[in-house]
Amino acid sequence: MVLPSASILSILVVLLLSPFVFSYPIQDTFLQCLSSTSESSFPFSTALYTPINNSSFTTVLLSTAQNLRYILPSVPKPEFIFTPFNESDIQAAVACCKQLGIHFRVRSGGHDYEAVSYVSAIESPFIIIDLAKLRSVDVDIEDNSAWVQAGATNGELYYRIAEKSKTHGFPAGLCTSLGMGGLITGGAYGAMMRKYGLGADNVIDARIVDAQGRILDRKAMGEELFWAIRGGGGGSFGIITAWKVKLVPVPETVTVFTVTKTLEQGATKLLYRWQQVADKLDEDLFIRVSIQTAGTTGNRTITTSYNAVFLGDAKRLLRVMESSFPELGLTQKDCIETTWLESVLYTGSYPSNTPPEALLQANNVLKSYFKAKSDFVQEPIPESALKGIWKRLFKEEGGFMIWNPFGGMMSKISEFETPFPHRKGDLFMIQYVTGWQDASGDVGKHVKWIRELYKYMAPYVSKNPREAYVNYRDLDLGINRNTNTSFIKASVWGAKYFKGNFYRLALVKSKVDPDNIFRHEQSIPPLPLHMR
Ligand SMILES: Cc1cc2nc3c(=O)[nH]c(=O)nc-3n(C[C@H](O)[C@H](O)[C@H](O)COP(=O)(O)OP(=O)(O)OC[C@H]3O[C@@H](n4cnc5c(N)ncnc54)[C@H](O)[C@@H]3O)c2cc1C
Ligand SMILES: *[C@@H]1O[C@H](CO)[C@@H](O)[C@H](O)[C@H]1NC(C)=O
Ligand SMILES: *[C@@H]1O[C@H](CO)[C@@H](O)[C@H](O)[C@H]1NC(C)=O
Ligand SMILES: *[C@@H]1O[C@H](CO)[C@@H](O)[C@H](O)[C@H]1NC(C)=O
Ligand SMILES: *[C@@H]1O[C@H](CO)[C@@H](O)[C@H](O)[C@H]1NC(C)=O
Ligand SMILES: *[C@@H]1O[C@H](CO)[C@@H](O)[C@H](O)[C@H]1NC(C)=O
Repeated sequence: MVLPSASILSILVVLLLSPFVFSYPIQDTFLQCLSSTSESSFPFSTALYTPINNSSFTTVLLSTAQNLRYILPSVPKPEFIFTPFNESDIQAAVACCKQLGIHFRVRSGGHDYEAVSYVSAIESPFIIIDLAKLRSVDVDIEDNSAWVQAGATNGELYYRIAEKSKTHGFPAGLCTSLGMGGLITGGAYGAMMRKYGLGADNVIDARIVDAQGRILDRKAMGEELFWAIRGGGGGSFGIITAWKVKLVPVPETVTVFTVTKTLEQGATKLLYRWQQVADKLDEDLFIRVSIQTAGTTGNRTITTSYNAVFLGDAKRLLRVMESSFPELGLTQKDCIETTWLESVLYTGSYPSNTPPEALLQANNVLKSYFKAKSDFVQEPIPESALKGIWKRLFKEEGGFMIWNPFGGMMSKISEFETPFPHRKGDLFMIQYVTGWQDASGDVGKHVKWIRELYKYMAPYVSKNPREAYVNYRDLDLGINRNTNTSFIKASVWGAKYFKGNFYRLALVKSKVDPDNIFRHEQSIPPLPLHMR
């Protein structure tokens, strides 16, 4: 392309001036807009962090950033972070971003695998609206429900429920530092999913700030939008400020165990057996498997750890295991009887005897540099193929997998009930991870390893589409490269996350946010006019 020199000059001028054009005025104009939009006389600057004026900018940016790969110096940073105190602040922020044409990202718990809640790789400048200060949890045992704000973690919700009742719980994530805002928007699976389904299946109301800056509850938003936000992925339809969730019954005694087998102890055969039974077990029983390498050079092995939660006592658990999965050889002394809340700490990998108050501390100590991918499995993977997986795991020090059983309630809910389509027919979900702790780690090498493993797995997992979990966001599956990404292009990754629900999500998007102000690398695009 040949540009007239005048245009080159003006582009140069814009490029040279852009730091000045954007970095100071953008925050000042935003603040001015907030005060004129909002009725409150609050000094909004105390909720705004810029890299230059606020020494705590980096602390705030890093506070919940879960994937350290996305905070490396080479990664784009926001112009500023705005931390609203309440819904009206969010309304004002959305209105002002829209009016001033500021591109924004929305963050609740910061666990997005590809960091789309705090990094924009496709648009510059951008800002972050961080909901960390919206974290109230109101539990109403009489009504069997709770209102939880988007910035609270699932661990805080679990703690607040258990504080009021030993026989109520909520089925959502296993890790306990997840933001309720992002977690429920993608589904939210956990140790009670086989009995009660996903977190998203147990939401009864919600509050959302929409593209017009209005606050809508379920009645006001209507059933189509209420459908879309329970599994259609975060950051596409509006900013959820709070969910009303339905509590579920939990027994006073639950039992947990972890039994580990190495290759020498018959791990391969046992894992083949687990694949045949895991989705068919008693719905009170959830047994996931973590797979990794162990040992020292010259003497390496694979460990398979069967990590379980049973909604009942050890005596009944042993009977269930004896009749349906005796091959694991579970004994009384493997079983730990405890409360539901303690089981949450156990599966959340806290050291034993950690007080439950740790759940209120929100920050996850397990931050790392990582890349992950997901798959759904519909037929047991043969032993010969398992051996091929072991071979690949041996080549990557920080490589591991978690196999998570489906079945039970998951099979009883139709794949159209919510946008989360992975229901009947899915035996289990695989999560592949490679993680490292050193900033100088070779990202390219790790990513290459996981992509090769993923390629190797193709014959053994779901096909047409090869399904993936939207909350395990994977930009390898496709990316919106500009604001007007076509529906056709996006439907490649859209079908993987949502199957046939993708079209309906795009239709909802066209109605509630036709100008696409809520957008990121994998947000739902509006449908082209002729397809609506
Ligand atoms: C260590 C770890 C363990 C995990 N364990 C589980 C698990 O057990 N079960 C499970 O189901 N998932 C699990 N996940 C995946 C997790 O569900 C997703 O990463 C989820 O998106 C996290 O939500 P968040 O609010 O913490 O993330 P964020 O990064 O804040 O947000 C994720 C996405 O949602 C959008 N979003 C955030 N807040 C809002 C809001 N208020 N309104 C609208 N959109 C919003 C963001 O823009 C982004 O697109 C795990 C992730 C990690 C890193
Ligand atoms: C929201 O918070 C602001 C401070 O950010 C305060 O001035 C305002 O009164 C609050 N509004 C409501 C409705 O609570
Ligand atoms: C950030 O710095 C500005 C300018 O010094 C100040 O007005 C504002 O209150 C600071 N923000 C926070 C959250 O401290
Ligand atoms: C922020 O810092 C810049 C540069 O130091 C300065 O020009 C600007 O006035 C500051 N903003 C505020 C609100 O203090
Ligand atoms: C090899 O590893 C296994 C299990 O990790 C261990 O039991 C065994 O003692 C080790 N053997 C040697 C020679 O180190
Ligand atoms: C995107 O689409 C809108 C509405 O259809 C149009 O006005 C705008 O020019 C398009 N932008 C780009 C970059 O194509």
